[in-house]
Amino acid sequence: MSDRRRVSRGPRYAQITGWGMAVPEKVLTNDDLARIVDTSDEWIVSHTGIQQRCIAGERDTTLTLAVRAAQEALLVAGIVPTQLDLVIVATVTPEYLFPSTASLLQDALGAAHAGAFDLSAGCSGFIYALSMAADAIRSGSAEHVLVVGSETLSRIVDWTDRNTCVLFGDGAGAVVVSVCAERCGVMASVLGSDGSGGELLIVPGGGSRHPLSQQVLERRDQYVKMNGREVYRFASTVMPRATEAVVQKAGWQLQDVALVIPHQANDRIIAAAIKRLGLPADRFVVNIARYGNTSSASIPIALCEAIAEGRVNAGDRLVLVGFGAGLTWGALALEWGVPEPARPRPLFLRWLATFWYFLAGIRSAIRRTERALYDRTMGPEGAEGVRGKLRERSDRLRAVIARRLGRLRPEAGPTAEKPTAEDDDAARQ
Ligand code: UT7
Repeated sequence: MSDRRRVSRGPRYAQITGWGMAVPEKVLTNDDLARIVDTSDEWIVSHTGIQQRCIAGERDTTLTLAVRAAQEALLVAGIVPTQLDLVIVATVTPEYLFPSTASLLQDALGAAHAGAFDLSAGCSGFIYALSMAADAIRSGSAEHVLVVGSETLSRIVDWTDRNTCVLFGDGAGAVVVSVCAERCGVMASVLGSDGSGGELLIVPGGGSRHPLSQQVLERRDQYVKMNGREVYRFASTVMPRATEAVVQKAGWQLQDVALVIPHQANDRIIAAAIKRLGLPADRFVVNIARYGNTSSASIPIALCEAIAEGRVNAGDRLVLVGFGAGLTWGALALEWGVPEPARPRPLFLRWLATFWYFLAGIRSAIRRTERALYDRTMGPEGAEGVRGKLRERSDRLRAVIARRLGRLRPEAGPTAEKPTAEDDDAARQ
């Protein structure tokens, strides 16, 4: 019996089945930074634990990093993009204000049956997104969800402000979350917000309150502003508290937790959490030295590295915990369900995947061209005469085809609209 049919009858759990990460090639060391602003390797390492960070090159964007991480995650999960029902991108540095980076990612992957949206919850974004994905799967509205945290913070930090520019880096991490019948995966989540601390970590300009203007640019308000000390105080308290809360919600004991994967903002914040929780330090994943703070991407990147290092095994209980702008915080209790570390996929599967993404690019180009040509050949909506009639017929025929294709797709389910008698008449004409 197929997994899907087995799952549809019994309880539904949401487990991570695929993972992938991507970082830009360009590395910026603390010594490089000391040549740009008044800082030193000694200060940065002693105050943050950061030794270097990856910085987006000219061709890297939040979307390109997301695409690379997502392709890897899909390959590990062993599913094709058309099996995805939902794509969620957690980011504070989207490709555009709109359209969403998630929609662009959906198109780039050829995930033709997936809904897509961006999620903005500061550095807690990935935790929020994973929690939403698990809810969608457990409720039965999705079978496979792609969750990505992707950032190019180097594009919104002020490279003249030593208080912030030394902290951040660029990168992306992705997971595929799939339905499963056995008890595993996301067991509990805790999400929180305190908007009264919104101004502590903010990009003041470029939004509805202060649209981009000369004044905004003069005040450098298009860049990140942060009250580091206050955020530090908040983070040091909230991280252990959220961890304890989610462990309790999952019905576990703290000692049961094999690995904690915290948001990588400052190794002193992580050290404070280790002390407060009383867990051995080797149960925490810390990779801030190499990447800095990559916001929504930091937790999935740390997860990928922990898996690659063999630190995650079937049956392990993990806690993922983050905090960030908003202020927000979130923690997830995760029981690792994948039986063994994924083997490297055979080369021919990688070639097949590359061919698929090539086709997805062609599909996207055809749709763009078709859209551009349609108005020109058929005439504008409501046009008189032969072109108007042609457009009317063509529009109706397209609607019928779209609906029929919708009915043929199993994902469309029983709620998919059926062609009406009127549609059938139109199709016959
Ligand atoms: O994802 C969430 C986002 N953000 C965070 O989690 C950040 C949380 N906060 C922190 O990590 C820390 O507060 C920082 C790393 C930002 C700062 O560390 P700190 O130990 O709290 O330093 P501080 O703010 O108390 O500043 C100490 C001094 C200041 O000089 P004065 O005023 O005492 O003379 C700063 O001007 O260090 C100075 N300073 C620097 N010096 C050299 C600040 N940045 C730098 C720098 N290099 N890059």
